[in-house]
Amino acid sequence: MELALPEFDYLRQTVYELSSIIIDPGKEYLAESRLSPVAHEEGFASVQELLARMRQGTSMPLRQRVLDAMTNNETSFFRDVAPFEALREIILPEIIASNSRDGQLSIWSAASSTGQEAYSIAMLLDKYFGGLPGWRVKILATDISTSALQRAREGRYSQMEVSRGLTQEQLKRYFSNEGAEWKIIDSIRSMVEFRSLNLFDSWDAIPPCDILFLRNVLIYFEVEKKKQILAKVRSILKPTGYVLLGSAETTLGLDDGFERIQCGPISYCRLKRS
Ligand SMILES: C[S@@+](CC[C@H](N)C(=O)[O-])C[C@H]1O[C@@H](n2cnc3c(N)ncnc32)[C@H](O)[C@@H]1O
Repeated sequence: MELALPEFDYLRQTVYELSSIIIDPGKEYLAESRLSPVAHEEGFASVQELLARMRQGTSMPLRQRVLDAMTNNETSFFRDVAPFEALREIILPEIIASNSRDGQLSIWSAASSTGQEAYSIAMLLDKYFGGLPGWRVKILATDISTSALQRAREGRYSQMEVSRGLTQEQLKRYFSNEGAEWKIIDSIRSMVEFRSLNLFDSWDAIPPCDILFLRNVLIYFEVEKKKQILAKVRSILKPTGYVLLGSAETTLGLDDGFERIQCGPISYCRLKRS
């Protein structure tokens, strides 16, 4: 049974309050299909019953489960290819040269979903830069979805997931086969630290950043919220740092503190330099 409008509006409002994600009107069918398994597993007869319980006040774990189900965790290894080519060919060589004196590199995969983005960065650093021996390399990966983070930390992927973006050579080198799954090897897994973070909460615990992957998450927010995030990006990014957005995302018209660098099919941003 499809959700009635008041129930759907309550869900949209709740998700917005928890994450600032906008769920478009008319997506009742989506909500119903994503929440049905949660309702079932939590012992409710229907999604309607689950939402009714939430309305009466409920524990944070249940609200978090509902939020997790409503986030879009679509991702893949080396997603869109070009950002990772830009990282390897232009961005990393430049940052490594400018940071060579202190030997530190800080990369943040914000909205990391199930971890493919952060592990792609780690594999690239390993393969093309030998893991930067003698450097202090930090790859931080954060997301608001507890279930996505749990999967990311485990580093186990299905055949379908590894077939999206990985070559046979990468699969052989960086994963071990465990039954129907592929597990990322420990040396790559340990390069990434996963943490829970709502991008609208404080970034005080995030270190100054050389490279920020902020890909395919701004699209879920309204203009004012995108502006808030970009202002925070300006404060966390080192003066020589870079931001990579998703292919449908831009800073244009939102924040003129950034300049865009176009490099073939990919554009990336840095703080305006005088
Ligand atoms: C489509 S995935 C993008 C994953 C990856 N960055 C990529 O481009 O492949 C969007 C992610 O943003 C996360 N997200 C949505 N709202 C968020 C918020 N307010 N704070 C942190 N993460 C959020 C979701 O949980 C989801 O995992």
